[in-house]
Amino acid sequence: MDRVRVGVLISGRGSNLQALIEAARDPAYPAELVTVVSNVPGAAGLARASAAGILAEVVDHKVFSGRDPFEEALTIVLERAGVELVCMAGFMRIVTEGFIARWHDRLINIHPSLLPAFPGLDTHARALAAGVKLAGCTVHYVRAEVDHGPIIGQAAVPVLPADTTDTLAARVLEAEHRLFPHCLRLIAEGRVRVAGEVAEIEEDAPPGPALINPPTP
Ligand code: GRF
Repeated sequence: MDRVRVGVLISGRGSNLQALIEAARDPAYPAELVTVVSNVPGAAGLARASAAGILAEVVDHKVFSGRDPFEEALTIVLERAGVELVCMAGFMRIVTEGFIARWHDRLINIHPSLLPAFPGLDTHARALAAGVKLAGCTVHYVRAEVDHGPIIGQAAVPVLPADTTDTLAARVLEAEHRLFPHCLRLIAEGRVRVAGEVAEIEEDAPPGPALINPPTP
């Protein structure tokens, strides 16, 4: 089996990267991580990559005169590693249309909300302020508008009355760690097709029943 060659872009902690590393340890997983690139030198995720024997590289945006030369350098590093698909896993840079076009439908991102609700930063605080009863995360193809693009998968979690942004973020993060490897698998197995601006998924089994909050008796 030819595994899809994946590059992961990070800026920090790298817990989603770790979830992808764990999934890809299984030789039957259809994707392999061939490089991890951070725009922040010393990002904790780089050590996770090295510990897993994955090439860990830094392309520090601060040393470039603008977004275009930074992204050109990023693309060179990704192409040198033979990357076919790019995962943004806590990558805290806005990418330009040129980069998005270069990796069209080969660039995915994870966002900690049920998009199109709460794009951008501070999602958990905004979800709590809005009083939503379900929160969650989304894996989507990247488009020019931040946190928009064809949705590949979503995971929902309940918002509990005592939640703080930290407790909600932790519950969502756990869901992220399940959702991201799942969505990457679907793509790598060729089960995702973008039609118009909608991702169509070929699935084996229907999803579970509705998650209702407040719970029904
Ligand atoms: C995650 O919540 C992700 O959804 C968001 O940034 C956070 C990154 O966390 N884009 P980590 O670096 O994967 O631990």
